[in-house]
Amino acid sequence: MQARPRLTGRKVTINELMIELASSAERVRPARAVHGVVAVPGDKSISHRYAMLTSIAEGQSRILNYSTGADCQSTLASMAAMGVKHEAGEHGRRELVVHGCGLNGLEAPEHMLDAGNSGSTIRMLSGILAAQAFACEIGGDESLSKRPMKRILAPLEQMGARIQSTDGGYPPLRIQGSALHGIDYTLPVASAQVKSCVLLAGLYASGETVVRESVRTRDHTEIALRELGAGIRVEGGGAVQVTGGVPLFGRDLMVPGDLSSAAFFLVAALVVPEAELVITNVGLNPTRTALLDFLRAAGASIQILNVEQVNGELIGTLQVRHSHIRGGVIEGPLAAALIDEIPVLAVLGATSETGLVVKDAAELRVKETDRIATIAENLSRMGVSIDVAADGFTLPGKQSFQSAELDSFGDHRIAMAFSVAALAAAGECVIHNAGAASVSYPEFYTTLREIAQ
Ligand code: S3P
Repeated sequence: MQARPRLTGRKVTINELMIELASSAERVRPARAVHGVVAVPGDKSISHRYAMLTSIAEGQSRILNYSTGADCQSTLASMAAMGVKHEAGEHGRRELVVHGCGLNGLEAPEHMLDAGNSGSTIRMLSGILAAQAFACEIGGDESLSKRPMKRILAPLEQMGARIQSTDGGYPPLRIQGSALHGIDYTLPVASAQVKSCVLLAGLYASGETVVRESVRTRDHTEIALRELGAGIRVEGGGAVQVTGGVPLFGRDLMVPGDLSSAAFFLVAALVVPEAELVITNVGLNPTRTALLDFLRAAGASIQILNVEQVNGELIGTLQVRHSHIRGGVIEGPLAAALIDEIPVLAVLGATSETGLVVKDAAELRVKETDRIATIAENLSRMGVSIDVAADGFTLPGKQSFQSAELDSFGDHRIAMAFSVAALAAAGECVIHNAGAASVSYPEFYTTLREIAQ
């Protein structure tokens, strides 16, 4: 069982809670089948963006289905530390009301902003912080402190930002807000976080800010900016332009379910002998659905039902049935498009007919953990052979999973991917530090127990 946080009279800090949750262990037994209807939490990427943008918009916004994950709470807490008021709406935890303070209404925080485990929070928010009329610091947990920030420091400095990092490019960051000017920036890494950081800084910069990408990354920031009335133009050939000084206006928004969270259940349905699952209200933005194309090309039976557009984002229901999976290759732009799903696709790849080859995915090494290393370690513990490279791995197919003691190493996607592997193992597995799943999906183990038979 997962350890429950102790209830004492003392107020527990978010960091203590995270450490306590992360040190929990889960036992997962093999499943014969998975069946049921699943509602995954609100999309993590979109929730971060809505929290930041509605905070600097004029007036009130209601956000439905805001992510319950700890990462998105870190973003909200950071905005609150700068004077932005928010509260639960009439629909309880699923509705959030944010009282925007306008582009120039943020106040200097009294303490260092805590991004927790969240790379999205520190990287995207730094774009806003760089333009404020105050200085502040932003940092996070041990894992975040090892994640590279040079990728945002370079463009922000070109815009006139003054930022001091730790150990030559790591958090915490000390940001002295200053007047920024627009730049024309070509992304050297395929990163939606960097693109978003520059676009958010561009909201405050003089003139126009242009970001160009050669590999298409998720475009939730562009869509959200348009929805809130920013001066944004998406041009052909991967260029986005934002005009500085244009106010944003609050409005009602609805966050689609997180396809990257749904990925764990899609793969669960494919690795157990019998399955039929329905996953409702999932975000189907075309910059995120490479997962569905990849799975279908490998033989997965996935139907997409009831597609509609809400706030510029596509939403639909997925129906997946157990299917025979051939295997595949993830390389080039596909590696960037599937970067968050590779841990669970590795689990599927090992059991597939022909296996899985992953190349051009060195970014995996600088995620919440070095995911090439943590995938390889857990697969090896399950008796699976894997050949590791600097930018990926090769996994032969038709392998089976032994019962094993596994570890999330504090990484939410590793916790959930290997809990899915455990469903297909020869015997019970223990996943140490399974509480890390709360970073994006606190309800994951409850749902897993409900659907697994
Ligand atoms: C994210 C972008 C991706 C992804 C991360 C969330 C975002 O990171 O891996 O989980 O919300 O923009 P990069 O931008 O570093 O590729």
